[in-house]
Order: sequence, then C-alpha cells, then structure tokens
Amino acid sequence: MKKKINEYDEVPYVCQAIPNTNPCHLALCSMWAGGPRAPIDSYRVMELGCGDGTNLIALAFYHPNSTFVGVDGSSVQIEMARTCAAALKLSNIRFEDADILELEQYNFSHFDYIIAHGVFSWVPENVRTAIFEFCQQKLSRNGLAYISYNTMPGWAMRGVVRDALLRNKMVRIATVRQKAEVAIDVAHKLREELPDCENAYSALLDSELKRVPECTPSYILHEYLEPYNTPFWFRDFVHRAQSHDLAYIIDAQFCRKEGQSNSASLSEAYGKTNSIEQEERIDVLHQRYFRASILCRKEARQSARQQPLDSTQILHNVFLAAFFTTDSDPFILRDDVPEYLEGESTVMLDESITKAALLILSRNWPHGKSFGELYEESLDFLKQHDCQPKKDALKILEKEILTMFKAGQIEFRLSSYQHHMDTIQGADKMPKATPLAQIESETKDMLTSAYHSSVLLVPHDKEVIQLADGTRSEKEISSIHPEFEQRLQVLRHWGFVK
Ligand SMILES: C[S@@+](CC[C@H](N)C(=O)[O-])C[C@H]1O[C@@H](n2cnc3c(N)ncnc32)[C@H](O)[C@@H]1O
Repeated sequence: MKKKINEYDEVPYVCQAIPNTNPCHLALCSMWAGGPRAPIDSYRVMELGCGDGTNLIALAFYHPNSTFVGVDGSSVQIEMARTCAAALKLSNIRFEDADILELEQYNFSHFDYIIAHGVFSWVPENVRTAIFEFCQQKLSRNGLAYISYNTMPGWAMRGVVRDALLRNKMVRIATVRQKAEVAIDVAHKLREELPDCENAYSALLDSELKRVPECTPSYILHEYLEPYNTPFWFRDFVHRAQSHDLAYIIDAQFCRKEGQSNSASLSEAYGKTNSIEQEERIDVLHQRYFRASILCRKEARQSARQQPLDSTQILHNVFLAAFFTTDSDPFILRDDVPEYLEGESTVMLDESITKAALLILSRNWPHGKSFGELYEESLDFLKQHDCQPKKDALKILEKEILTMFKAGQIEFRLSSYQHHMDTIQGADKMPKATPLAQIESETKDMLTSAYHSSVLLVPHDKEVIQLADGTRSEKEISSIHPEFEQRLQVLRHWGFVK
C-alpha cells in the first residue's frame, strides 16, 4: 500500500525529552496514587508517535538495561531517529516507520510502559481508538500508559485562535513550509485590531494571540494548523479509556506542572481530590489546557488498591532534588524568621530544619539525596551554624517536604541515577563529552540529562563540548577562553562531560 504523505515529513516536529514520560516518574506517580508497581530497573518501553526519537533515544542511552521501540508514521523523522541511534551505537532501541493503525502486523510482545505524548488530540478518531486498543492489548500486567492531550476548558480559547488562523485565506493558500510564518503575521494583525483589552474576552484573546509568535514554526504548524486537534474534557477521556478496560490512575503532571502554574489553594484541593468529577471541576477553575493521564489495565488497578503505600512511606523511599536561590544576606536559619526562596515559584519558610534542607538540596542540584541523608545533613548544618532544631524537626521536615512535592517545588525520584552518573563521570583528566551530549549539541538547543530533563545550552557550551573529545586536558580547554573553565565545570557537574 502506498504510504500517505505526512506533513511531519515536510516540516519535522522539533522534539525534546519530556521529563514526565520517564518510566521512573510514571512508576512514582502510580505508587503515589495506589496504582500498580511498574518495574523501575529494567523494562520495555513503546513510544507511539515518537517523532524524531529525541525522547526515547535519551532514555535508551541512560538505561542500557531496558529496551525501547519507537513508532512514527513520518518516514523522514524515523530516518532521523535511526541515524541518531546508530551514531550512538545503541543496541537497546529500534524504530518502526509505521502507522499506529497498522501495528498488528508487528506482533509486539508486552510493554511495561506505553507513551503517546502529543499524539492523541492531534490524530483522527480511528487512530485514538487504535491507541487505546494497543494499550489494552500490549500493556504488561502492571504496565503503565501515558497519554497526553489538549484539555477543556483551558484549550477552548486556543481553539478559537486555531480556527481563526485556519480560516484565514492567506494561511489556507500558503504552502506547508510557509504556513507558520503567515500565521504569525495574521496573529499580529488580529492583535493590532483588537479593541481595548479592558473587557475579559479581549484580554483572554490577546494573551492567546500573543503566544503564537513566541512558538517555533514547527510547533505553530503542528499545534495551531494541524488538520486534527481535538481537546477533551477530562471525564470524557477517562470514560473512553474505561470502555477499553483501561483505568485512570493519576496525572503525570500532578507534582510537576510543565507549562502550567497552579495556585496553592487549588493544588491543595487537587491533592485531596479523588473523584473524576472533582478533578474536572478543578480543570474548570484552573483553566487547564493540557493533561498527561496515566492509565493501567482495569484489573491491575483493582489489585493494586489492596496494598497502598502512604505518602510518608514513599518519602522515605525516594531521592529528593530541588533548586532554589535566595537574595537574603544574611540568610537567617533560626525558627520563626520568614525567609523567601526562589524556584519555579516563591517559597516562604520559617522552620529552621526546612531552610537547612532546601539550602543543602539546592547546593546538590541536580543530584538527589535520600530523605534520611538529607535530614541528618540538615541537623549537622544547623549545629554548625549554632542553631538548635525543634524537637519535632523530623515530623516538620516530612510534612513540609510532602507539601512542597505536591506543589511541584521538590522533585521525588525513585532512582538515584547514581549508576548513570558513575558510568558517565570518571575522574578523567582528559574531559570527554558523552556521545549523547556531542550529538545533541550539534543538532539541538538543549541537552538531555540522566534525570530526563532538558538543559538549555548557553553560549560556549557547544564549543566546550566539541573540545572535550578526550584529547585535551582540562587546563588546555580552560585556557582557550576565559568562560570555558566555568562552563566545563557545569557540564561536568551535570554529567554531560566526564
Ligand atoms: C506533535 S508530534 C509529537 C512527537 C513527539 N511525541 C513529541 O512530543 O515530541 C506527533 C507525532 O505523531 C505522529 N503521528 C501522527 N499520526 C500518526 C499515525 N497515525 N501513526 C503513526 N504516527 C503518527 C506524527 O508523525 C508526529 O511525529
């Protein structure tokens, strides 16, 4: 059968690692919500609509004990993925140039994780059904599926902008490659014509129109101008999943809001929520526009409910990581003196033990520490600074860390990723960039860390990575430019250069 022309062949999507799709993160979310315990040491992953493979290749690079399959209907993107995987000599990943509608012929065995990021809303109805069917048939017993989609009602106004752009004659007649640029002009003109932004509609429309030129051309084409883009009400999505014997567990963003901030009071309500109706209500109040639902087999949800872990047990079994800065000078560690720390949001602290813990975590960033280790180090830190912790410091720290985790301010990790860091970071005298960092620095604006986060490349990083090829000493590299020494240290600290 002749393959359909795919718009992604003409303008490939600029992919990046999606932290919330990291299997360890999905397993943590499931554990938190009393869902099945999916494997975290060695597992099989499928990514449907994997684009150019950026997300999956980084996972395969850092997790050699696991295996990965990526499927995409764009031959050009699959070729990019295969070229990159071959350059990295990865033997634990393969890519199939295939339509999600035609996966039966591949006879895949079961997967512990099935990821579909940025696909479900952007495909026709029959492909959505095929995604659910694939999950129903191919999830392993305790497996987890991650499906993200545009969400109502937050996406409604974005939908108005999309429709307005799609209906515009200049956009309609433009070629696929020109469309994004023309759409930006149209969005600018619409903004200029907007009446005074004093009424609520104009203000909302203005904020959505303003967003268009801030996006990359590939994003504009595949978000605003894609032939299919259907937002879903949360409850409708869950019911559809249930009709395929899949159960909803939790949202992968519940403790890590990517691109969407949440008010503290709504986060609190969200934390206590356990009904689909209530969650949808919060979507309305919170103007939620995107969701990343984690699903499992219906029977796995039922059996997992019998042995839930409580949040404090989980806290004692994870590694914690956070990064905050403070302008306070001096920073007062004493109890009952408010101090403000800046991270994704501002945190006000008045407990000495928590202040010490966050300073320690920030110094250790991006690496993690177990709760026990953090507590002991925080006590030592207070002692060194002649500060007496309260008698119930342990309980205070547990409670405050859990609150910050739920508000997306502290990261919990089921794995320390120490083994990755060990293999990546030797005490090598001749710095050598990892093969993944070398390739990503040539083709992208970001590097993917062992923690599956994207780290923006800043000036000089690309040059330093190129120079760090194992033939020059640290001193030689640092002497080439005054900024190189510091960038080399940062890249080494992250594990991009060993
Ligand atoms: C918006 S992109 C998302 C890519 C990637 N998952 C990411 O988030 O970076 C959607 C991807 O789904 C693929 N796709 C759409 N319909 C498909 C189908 N029926 N079968 C296979 N792939 C499909 C497209 O080729 C494209 O690469």
